[in-house]
Amino acid sequence: MIVIKGGTLVDGQRTVQADVRIDQGKIQAIGLDLEADQVIDATGQVVMPAFVDLHAHFRDPGLTYKEDLATGAQAALKGGYGTVVLMANTKPTVDHNEVYQDIVDRAEALDLIQIYQNYAVSKGLKGEEWVDLDHLPASVKFLSDDGFGLQNNKATFQLFERIKKLGKGLMIHEEDRELSEIDYRYAEDVHTMRDVYFSGKTGARVHFCHVSTIDACKAVEYGKAQGYPVTMEVTPHHLYLSGLDYKVHPPIREEADRRYLVEALICGAVDCVATDHAPHSEEDKLKGSPGMIGLETAFQVVYKVLVEEYGQDLQLVSRVMSQRPAEILEVNKGRIEVGYDADLVLVDLAQSETIQPNTIRSKSKNTPMMGETFKGVVTTTVVNGEVKYRREVNEY
Ligand code: DOR
Ligand code: ZN
Repeated sequence: MIVIKGGTLVDGQRTVQADVRIDQGKIQAIGLDLEADQVIDATGQVVMPAFVDLHAHFRDPGLTYKEDLATGAQAALKGGYGTVVLMANTKPTVDHNEVYQDIVDRAEALDLIQIYQNYAVSKGLKGEEWVDLDHLPASVKFLSDDGFGLQNNKATFQLFERIKKLGKGLMIHEEDRELSEIDYRYAEDVHTMRDVYFSGKTGARVHFCHVSTIDACKAVEYGKAQGYPVTMEVTPHHLYLSGLDYKVHPPIREEADRRYLVEALICGAVDCVATDHAPHSEEDKLKGSPGMIGLETAFQVVYKVLVEEYGQDLQLVSRVMSQRPAEILEVNKGRIEVGYDADLVLVDLAQSETIQPNTIRSKSKNTPMMGETFKGVVTTTVVNGEVKYRREVNEY
């Protein structure tokens, strides 16, 4: 029995000065003077549910010079994440059961974080032929052609009908590739509007990835108001950056978009933050690969925007980084309550960190935040009741 002592517990619903006891992977008691075999001293720190990321790319198999399951998991732990959902754009694509099962088995053997693997929607993410939808592994929760999107309207509508029948969810990267040649904003807005509409017509469960414009966000808000089964995420970089020319899909937008997204996150219209952690080598970035890493800086960036810039409290941060994503994934995580999985993170808000290549655990270093200093340092990450990460004093 481990007791985390002396910290301030913060989750999406409350802030309380108390200790938390974990046993057999679960939160077993919350209170004061709890008996323990082992104590983790959290004096002066906040204790939050470990973060849950619905959107990351670990590039394994096939592109492991950018990232692999182990380095991705280490990056996640350093950022305070206990659970990560991986996208299917690996090599080969996660479009058949062997590659799916191989990733799931290797992730389990690693025993670092909880990994959920998304299944591709179409073979090779080409949008031409669907994967074998009738023989999906039972453990698949979401399907996604993230990185590409679904181009054909009729095929997309029919896919939604089948997804509804299967009882799975779709995570959709919204991009009309014809329109992105004219304006990437139209590309995102038009396909988001289409898929909100199709979700309403078919009842298919749709989660909108990395929503980045005012109109796309409003479209999903409309769907929610209608009672459609839709949810949405925003990335830390779209909450923090505007008007910057750093290649990522969807692009960094205008300041008005950024502000709208932050306000939509504050009022609960946007469900959660997801990193879209997209590691690329220096050479690949020079060749134009879109994306940036995000797992290790997500909390710091979200804290800076929501707490420092917008004066919100940590409970909101916890809601959008742990509670809501856990609810969307339908896992017993994201809260500090008896009976929940013991996935916890200790954060020292008195410490700051400057992002440097040597502080990054990911194999890739592609981030425009390099050199910036952020408040809030993850000191300990507990997953499934076990300490999986402890920051050494003066580690960097
Ligand atoms: O910027 C991005 N990078 N957006 C995506 O949708 C895909 C991702 C990647 O896989 O690199
Ligand atoms: Zn995407």
